[in-house]
Amino acid sequence: MDVKPLIEKALQARHNAYAPYSGLRVGACVRAASGRTYSGCNVENAAFGETCCAERVAIYTAVAAGERGFTHLAVASDRDEAAFPCGACRQVIMEFAPHAQVVCADCTGAYEIHAIKDLLPRAFAFGPMKEGCGDA
Ligand code: THU
Repeated sequence: MDVKPLIEKALQARHNAYAPYSGLRVGACVRAASGRTYSGCNVENAAFGETCCAERVAIYTAVAAGERGFTHLAVASDRDEAAFPCGACRQVIMEFAPHAQVVCADCTGAYEIHAIKDLLPRAFAFGPMKEGCGDA
């Protein structure tokens, strides 16, 4: 699959970031098994712990639209180095997309791809998630 359009959408989504505290704008775009894509940006809060990362906003938006399994998730920020999902986002990606390819891009669109299983080896699994209930 050509991942460049997904990266473009992630880069575009970062422009909507609400990041007055860190100043770091992050965008993500997830491709559902249906072929549809859903974008997200980071949304910060004065109570820092309530901040939500771009990847989770994208995935939760897709889930709220009725999607379940995902094939790819692209993430990018303003920085000139590939953006990697934080630990919490890796766990959320694993819940819905244990076979997903994660496209880590920099602000120029250069990227590297990693399987979520490589980014989160020996992931925590529990109950229905073990059967891949969120997977496509
Ligand atoms: N952030 C993301 O959106 N995704 C990540 O995977 C890591 C961090 C955001 C959260 C916060 O708004 C800013 O980047 C700095 O941590």
